[in-house]
Amino acid sequence: MKILVPTVIPIDFETPDGVTRVDYDVTSPIPPEHRDAEAVVVWLNPGERLRAMPSELPELRWVQGLMAGTDSVQAAFAGTDVTIAAGTGLHDQPVAEHTLALILAAARRLDEAFAAQSERRWLEEHGGNQIRNRQGFTTLAGARVLIWGFGGIGVTLAGYLTALGAEVTGVARSAGERHGYRVITPDDLAAELGTTDVLVDILPGSAETDAAIGAEVFEALPAHAWFVNVGRGVTVDEEALEAALRSGSIAGAALDVFRTEPLPEDSSLWQGPNLLVTPHAAGGRPQQPGKLIAENLRRYRAGEQLLGVTT
Ligand SMILES: NC(=O)c1ccc[n+]([C@@H]2O[C@H](COP(=O)([O-])OP(=O)(O)OC[C@H]3O[C@@H](n4cnc5c(N)ncnc54)[C@H](OP(=O)(O)O)[C@@H]3O)[C@@H](O)[C@H]2O)c1
Repeated sequence: MKILVPTVIPIDFETPDGVTRVDYDVTSPIPPEHRDAEAVVVWLNPGERLRAMPSELPELRWVQGLMAGTDSVQAAFAGTDVTIAAGTGLHDQPVAEHTLALILAAARRLDEAFAAQSERRWLEEHGGNQIRNRQGFTTLAGARVLIWGFGGIGVTLAGYLTALGAEVTGVARSAGERHGYRVITPDDLAAELGTTDVLVDILPGSAETDAAIGAEVFEALPAHAWFVNVGRGVTVDEEALEAALRSGSIAGAALDVFRTEPLPEDSSLWQGPNLLVTPHAAGGRPQQPGKLIAENLRRYRAGEQLLGVTT
């Protein structure tokens, strides 16, 4: 069998006997002599190149994404029976670290400190007696953090937050205990949101999660709560979020993902008060992709279920 591997990052794995590895440029059409490939690894392929793949690769049976969220791949291959596997686990630590950075930036209001620094201004109220000067969410010690989307990234983040003294609850499609954490479903949120200090969105983008987080959720959060989104922009009703920021019904938001990316220059969201923005920068550093590819290659050839295939 032939597997196409992108040249956009170094990817090392041992090619077993009977498998031909061909490296390809994600920005160009697949060369005619390699259109017989049975598998392709995709990462950072421009949208139009991804959408061309189903017709360029008629023999294709398996797409191995290196991204955690395969929504764009699913859309490109809609209506085909090609198996799509996500880069499961490859982003757990990078995205959890970025999310932790956003949460700590919110707690310590690094955005205000950096804005003052750019004006050579000593932000008096950030120092001194902070018990008196600042209320609300200022430390992870004892903070209640709700992680909506409690998969690989969420569980990794939960460990970091626990180490810093936070109390973590997960939200997923089924309730119970996972990795020692209490997990609830969206149906149980009403009882939870009112005592949440930080709501973290790590949901995948899907028809089911579209605008799942809207006015009702923001209204139920306490006024000192922060909202952090590293999942997908489509999971949030951005108008409702902006309204919540402007009315002060939540304390702030730290967003890495948006419904439209890049966030358009004329978007009013940019001016949302108490808003931290990072440019879809949480991931982008898949860790050891070759290990996952080698394992899924073994499974594929053995007729076993691939890692990272969700239904
Ligand atoms: N900002 C970035 O750069 C970046 C980078 C990587 C990933 N991401 C995003 O992060 C997402 C999560 O990645 P992951 O690797 O942690 O994925 P994952 O392991 O598949 O976890 C997804 C979690 O979301 C939950 N979920 C899905 N649909 C739900 C629904 N309708 N209601 C409640 N929970 C729901 C799942 O619940 P169950 O466990 O019950 O199935 C699971 O806990 C990706 O899909 C991607 O959108 C962003």
